[in-house]
Amino acid sequence: MNDVIIVADGYTAEVLEANERLRDIFGYAPEKAGQLTLTDISSGTSPYTGNALKKYLFEAQKAPQIVEWQARHANGSFFWTEITMRHTMLGEQERVLLIIRDISARKKAEEQLVNMRNQQSISMLSSGIAHDLANSLTGITSSVSFLKPMMIKSPQPDCATVNEYLEIIGDSASHLNDLVKQLSMLSRNEEIVFSSVDLIKVCDHAVKLCRKTFYNQITIKWEAPGSPAPTYGNKTQLEQVLLNLCINAAHAMTTMRDKNETQGGDLSLAIRKTENKESVKLAHALIPWEPYWEITVSDTGVGIDDSTRRQIFDPYFTTKKGLGGTGLGLSMVQSIIIKHAGFLNVESAPGKGSTFHVYLPVCLDTK
Ligand SMILES: Nc1ncnc2c1ncn2[C@@H]1O[C@H](COP(=O)(O)OP(=O)(O)OP(=O)(O)O)[C@@H](O)[C@H]1O
Ligand SMILES: [Mg+2]
Repeated sequence: MNDVIIVADGYTAEVLEANERLRDIFGYAPEKAGQLTLTDISSGTSPYTGNALKKYLFEAQKAPQIVEWQARHANGSFFWTEITMRHTMLGEQERVLLIIRDISARKKAEEQLVNMRNQQSISMLSSGIAHDLANSLTGITSSVSFLKPMMIKSPQPDCATVNEYLEIIGDSASHLNDLVKQLSMLSRNEEIVFSSVDLIKVCDHAVKLCRKTFYNQITIKWEAPGSPAPTYGNKTQLEQVLLNLCINAAHAMTTMRDKNETQGGDLSLAIRKTENKESVKLAHALIPWEPYWEITVSDTGVGIDDSTRRQIFDPYFTTKKGLGGTGLGLSMVQSIIIKHAGFLNVESAPGKGSTFHVYLPVCLDTK
């Protein structure tokens, strides 16, 4: 028998008897058990106080109780136990039987597992940010590669065009700056800051970057609605979402096509408020209906077959291994959307293109 067995008075919480294991586990001689109360063997730190254990003891007279309890050794050290309490009759006397198991080893293993999971999610997040750093750097390097030959060819290049490329470089650099801030927050384990964000500005940012950096065989269709689309979130992260979806769409219409196929197609962005849409209600059957912004990103690319579709949100799943794909884009998109209390889905047919629908809560406070 490895467990400590104690007979206690269910009303006063006095220890009446204990087996030999009381010495090994708690450091008290069993013959001295009568001098102890449950307060002596509880750590005393909230909520593991003698009074709290007394309440369980009282309940145990009606129905058996099992609790994980922080206990105190005679030498003052704390350790984890699992205590099973049940009512028993000893002769004429009503008593509570406590079976106490030392679970320190199990608790330690659980803690290690939680730490490992945290480490894994931090490294997932930071590799996601590194992935987005690469996207923004592409915005800068491709603008420079457009500008350079233009400046060499003509001593007086068209100022408006130069200005547009400079704006992209400026925007990408400030996005990079935000990402670097996120990385340092992550390493300090700080929360990403949320505020009211206009989703139209987020789409504008992505469209501007795509228009300047995508091949011109890709036609980008985007008509910004006249009034703002406010949600509560982090602008940089939401920009990451849109950029990742647009870049995937561009790949589906270019690099993912066979070499002998015509390259290019249409990339369309739209945003609207969902009006009690059935698909939204189904996806959110468990929570009360609320209005969402629905952002759609559609392409006329290669499309996605059913077996691929089941895996596209898995981290590191990619069909672009030879093309430098990491497979982190969509898993990052999904985790950002979930953090924003939203959800997303995809409709696609091989050869016909794909449409990603992103739903984000409408922020009622538009201040
Ligand atoms: N619009 C799309 N059309 C067709 N397939 C797509 C589309 N978007 C995603 N996919 C598929 O989903 C896979 C996973 O996408 P994800 O963005 O996570 O990674 P990736 O694009 O392969 O790599 P990276 O994002 O690092 O460039 C892609 O490899 C591709 O097969
Ligand atoms: Mg991608």
